[in-house]
Amino acid sequence: MPLTTHIGSLTLKNPVMTASGTFGYGLEFADFVDLSQIGAIIVKGTTLEPRQGNPYPRMAETAQGMLNCVGLQNKGVDYFCEHIYPEVRRTGTAVLVNVSGSSPETYAECARRIAALEDIPAIELNISCPNVRQGGMAFGVTCEGAASVVRAVRAVYPKTLIVKLSPNITSIADIARAVEAEGADAVSLINTLMGMAIDAERRRPVLSIGTGGLSGPAVKPVALRMVWQVYEAVKIPVVGLGGIMNATDAVEFLLAGATAVEIGTANFIDPAVTLKVRDGIQEYLDRHHFASVQDIIGLAHQA
Ligand SMILES: Cc1cc2nc3c(=O)[nH]c(=O)nc-3n(C[C@H](O)[C@H](O)[C@H](O)COP(=O)(O)O)c2cc1C
Repeated sequence: MPLTTHIGSLTLKNPVMTASGTFGYGLEFADFVDLSQIGAIIVKGTTLEPRQGNPYPRMAETAQGMLNCVGLQNKGVDYFCEHIYPEVRRTGTAVLVNVSGSSPETYAECARRIAALEDIPAIELNISCPNVRQGGMAFGVTCEGAASVVRAVRAVYPKTLIVKLSPNITSIADIARAVEAEGADAVSLINTLMGMAIDAERRRPVLSIGTGGLSGPAVKPVALRMVWQVYEAVKIPVVGLGGIMNATDAVEFLLAGATAVEIGTANFIDPAVTLKVRDGIQEYLDRHHFASVQDIIGLAHQA
């Protein structure tokens, strides 16, 4: 099939996935989009223990993007396994869980419990959340920190392991190499860029915790540059995201070296955007006479 793509031992029917935290558990969107047609659904960030998230306000609109500081609100991995998994396993497409933690041990324990779920073929390890005080991005900003989490999880998680990288670093290529060396099957990038908004009238930050993560079209050139650099730095597949709003954006990430893409903020504007992007990629392949999406991955690197 022309749109089929592979990440580790995972085969996706098309390269378009939903980005964690922007598509709930998928089920909330079932009235608006045929979930079974999406390449994969990456569900909300999940942690070992339940988390309340940060106080409101935790969203702010910015020029060409948005800021959020949701802070990984979720009911914990056991709730997911018991109540959400029986529902999401019936969506007809691959469902991946985005895993977060406050120490290598809590990441690993969360991953171990998800490994037991037969119909979850992969996890995405979030070592890049900028909105939590303990853990999260702290691990993703040093090679040692990133390696320590991947090592702990790899020891207990035998299925496909995707590690989601932070853009809030100096050299994304170094971090990607560090997680590849610990056995990650793929990397995804980027998580949100740290930013903030200030309300001039109130003379206070808009978001409850001051700072938040920037996403949407504003971050796309940064994300594209990072996918380009990581593609040249590692041999494992690269999943690209950050500001993808339409099929042209997605094709640019594929040409930069992405094996698959994720769509985040755009889901808030159009809940069916994933399938429009899928169709637009197919249209691009047809128009340029490429037989399959594999033919264009990394093509912009060729001299
Ligand atoms: C409201 C919101 C919640 C998010 N929650 C998570 C999360 O739980 N785990 C995670 O890895 N990324 C999370 N992200 C980051 C997105 O998955 C994605 O990396 C980022 O938004 C960039 O992609 P985009 O520009 O297409 O939105 C969240 C983003 C937003 C906007």
